[in-house]
Amino acid sequence: MEARDSCQGQHLSATPVQSPIAGAELRAAFGRYPTGVTIVTCRCPDTDYFIGITANSFTSVSLDPPIVSWNLGSNAQSRSAFSNASEFAIHVLSAEQQELARRFATRGAPKFDGVILDSETPPLLNQFLVRYVCRKAQQITIGDHEVFFGQVIRLDTAAHAPLMFVNSQFVDGGMLTQ
Ligand SMILES: Cc1cc2nc3c(=O)[nH]c(=O)nc-3n(C[C@H](O)[C@H](O)[C@H](O)COP(=O)(O)O)c2cc1C
Repeated sequence: MEARDSCQGQHLSATPVQSPIAGAELRAAFGRYPTGVTIVTCRCPDTDYFIGITANSFTSVSLDPPIVSWNLGSNAQSRSAFSNASEFAIHVLSAEQQELARRFATRGAPKFDGVILDSETPPLLNQFLVRYVCRKAQQITIGDHEVFFGQVIRLDTAAHAPLMFVNSQFVDGGMLTQ
């Protein structure tokens, strides 16, 4: 096939992927991609309930305007709260927060017990590596997830080593910051 003027680079014929791809195989493949770990929180609108989940789907999207995104499984208990909240906070976790990451990944756990908050709407955890306060910019449903895009309206950072996650294991990212 002739390269179009606008298409630079080497043409590769795509290798067909096996279809259908087994869910377990896909999950394992996704899990090989090392990520940081976040806790995303919101205040359930018009109630006193704090909502939070552990998420490693956080991604930076745009610098100007400052936009970030994260994904929520469609069958998460917190789906309607996040869908109805106009603001959420994303806390990038430090290596010392592994226990908190496990707790916020456990449905029905008393997630906020003993957690110190700097503010309640949205709930801002007092401990973090980076903390983004976001106004929801857009939400889309795709596949079995909701994707939330947030415009960053406040940013806080602290000096810690990052918590990381790969192959279903938490990893202390301290060696990356020495
Ligand atoms: C390291 C890690 C990362 C996770 N990332 C996500 C994620 O990005 N999106 C998601 O929906 N669930 C993710 N989960 C699972 C949720 O934290 C867990 O299912 C949570 O309890 C769902 O919230 P719920 O209590 O509202 O149902 C992750 C779990 C772990 C341990």
